[in-house]
Order: sequence, then structure tokens, then C-alpha cells
Amino acid sequence: MSTVPPIELIVYPDDCDAFGHLNQAAYFRLFERARWEALAHGPGMDTFRAHGVLPVVRKTEAEFFQQAAPGDRLRFELEVEHWGETSFTVRQQARKVGGQGLAAEVRVVLVTIGRDGRPCPVPVEVGRFLGVQSSRRTAASRQLTVRDLVITVDVTGDGPAVLFIHGFPLDRTLWRPVARTLTGWRRIAPDLRGMGLSEAPEEGYSLAEYADDLAALLDAVKVDQAVVCGFSMGGYVAFELLRRHRDRVRALVLANTRASADDADGRASRDAMIARIRRDGPGFLADEMIPRLLAPASLQTEPDVVRQVRAMVSAQQADGLVGALTAMRDRADATALLATVTVPTLVIAGSDDQLIPSAASRAMAEAAPNAHFAMIPGAGHLAPMEQAVNTARVIREFLEALL
Ligand code: MLT
Repeated sequence: MSTVPPIELIVYPDDCDAFGHLNQAAYFRLFERARWEALAHGPGMDTFRAHGVLPVVRKTEAEFFQQAAPGDRLRFELEVEHWGETSFTVRQQARKVGGQGLAAEVRVVLVTIGRDGRPCPVPVEVGRFLGVQSSRRTAASRQLTVRDLVITVDVTGDGPAVLFIHGFPLDRTLWRPVARTLTGWRRIAPDLRGMGLSEAPEEGYSLAEYADDLAALLDAVKVDQAVVCGFSMGGYVAFELLRRHRDRVRALVLANTRASADDADGRASRDAMIARIRRDGPGFLADEMIPRLLAPASLQTEPDVVRQVRAMVSAQQADGLVGALTAMRDRADATALLATVTVPTLVIAGSDDQLIPSAASRAMAEAAPNAHFAMIPGAGHLAPMEQAVNTARVIREFLEALL
């Protein structure tokens, strides 16, 4: 939950255009005013000035849902979606006081720059005021005790539930670029046990444990059924949810994943990686895995994505990594299970995925009775990050067809 006080602003006649409504430029002005007012209730610009830095807008995305007219009172709420080293992303929502639903929503990326005009660290005091508790937690993050373990989970939005399951060696933020666009849905994105900011026990890892954790997490957030979106290892967990908690799965998105189990070579390379992590620690993983996780073109042209993936991989704990490798090594084949999956299913493949051949994904879609296949051009293994817009589009279309 955001710690920033909501701001109410009245729409004045001179905010409106010849049609008598608030046009988009004026809407932007009110969003900006609301941001300023929100800051003025907290540290204000003084904190930025004291550190010799200035926040500047790098990018704005906006969606307008309702008209606003003179005299309407709009209530603006703000929360932090992403907190980076030198930038942060805020989501602002406007609702009519006394009305229903969202009137408009913007997502603004702000970069802090120094006197020389170059990006520099965001003052910690600003983060504290905005409800950010650490550089990797956002205002949407919660920590819940689930089956005696502390699980970190992002829960955003209202509506039917979508559960996002990340892959290896990643965390819940993998899905963030996609999840944040799916307004109208309650998006639940946990860090699996041992990964990201969730607690990492020394032992107790298997796909069954992950699946039972997620079923208990759905209980904790009072969700009976969710559309389950599993990415890669998250897909293996989704299969386990089907085996153990099928009634919780309303529909299925299988992204960059496979149904087959590891063969002997695959199991041997899991064992080799486990031994290396035990011997040397996980420091080598980022350099080793990033060139395989991302498409060659993304490596060249998407430095922000490369940076985010590196941060995710580098922050993992050895026990959680070893646990996940063990769980994947020992997983059962899910090929026969596919024929029993009758819920609507979307299978997503990346055209340049070096880990999961798109033919394997296509075969999964053919094996499940109610499945569609979508190829994301230009995506490597990390389609939800590398090609977030296209991945979000196919998922949104799939979700809308469920309603
Ligand atoms: C993942 O992205 O989750 C992993 O690459 C899956 C795997 O190693 O089988």
C-alpha cells in the first residue's frame, strides 16, 4: 500500500477544451500537479535540492477511461512501481470522487540527474517517504508468512486473479513489465521460496513444495482460482499446481517453458551447477546465463533489460538456487498431463529462445485440447522482459476472452 496521501483536485472550466471536457494535455497537467502536491506533503523538492539532484520525467504512459468536466473532483493516488538506482517509476490513478472505476492512469518514469545533467542516485529519503523499504521492494510488495516461510509477493489491482510464476534464477520482477499493463486484473506475483526476497530454507525444495506454497499463498490473499502464468521453471510449477491443486487453476499461460523432464545430460548439468554453486558461490551465474537467457539482439540493444536481469540473478541466495536446480532436475514429465488440461491455455514462445525451441512449445499447444500458440518475434528466453509489449498484448487478449 502506498504511504503517500491521496490528493484531490477540482476540474476548472479553464482546464477544459472546446468540447467541455478535460483533454489529455490538461489531464497530464493535473497528474503533474497531484505529484507535486503529494511531494509537498512529504520531503518536497528540498530533499532533491539538498542532494544537488533534480527529478526529470523520462517516459510517461497514459490511459484515459472516463471524461472529466468542470466541477468534477478528481482523487489522485500514487504508488511506486519500480525503484532503481537512478530512476523510479510511479503509477498514478485518478478517480472521480463519488464516481465509480478509474478515470485515468499514468505511469511515469523519473530519473534523478545531477548538476552535470547525468543520472545519479535517487535520495533515500524520497524512497522512504514514498513507502519504498529497500531498493528491490516497491509499495506493492508484501511479505506474508506462508507454510512457515516468509514469502515476498507483489499484489496489484482489482478484478479476477492472475498468478505470475517466475523462472530460474530469477524473481517476481521478471513479470512486472507485463503485469503492470494488465489493469482490471488482480495481479499476484510472488518470489518462490528461496528466490528473490522470499525466505530461503536450507532444504525442502521440490516442485510439489513450490506448488503447495502457491496454493497456500492464494488462500492467504483470499483467491479461490487464478489464471496461472508460468514462465519456464514457473511453467513446471504450473504443471505441479495442475497435478496437486487443479481446482485453483482457472486458465493457464505457459511462457517459454517445456513439458518434458530433464534427460540424463540435463540432470548431469544440473548436478554440475549445484556442485559449482556449493564450491564457488553463485557469482558466476549471471555471466554464464545472461547470454543464453537473452536473444543476441536484446544483449546489444536492451542495456536496461540486461542490467535488470543481472541484478536479479546476482541477488539470489545459494540455498534457493541449489533447491531450484534440485527441484527442476527431479521433476516429472508433464507431456501426458497436457492432454488432460481442459482449461483455456495459451502457450507463448520466443522466436529466438535459445533454451526452449519454439517447436517444443508448439507441440505443447497441440497436445492440450484447449490451447492456443503465440510466437513472440524477437524474444529470447525472457519474452516477458525482452518483448514486454507484445507478450502483454497476447496475454491481455487471452485474458479478455475469458471474461
Ligand atoms: C528457467 O528459465 O526457469 C530455466 O531456464 C528453466 C530450466 O533450466 O529448465
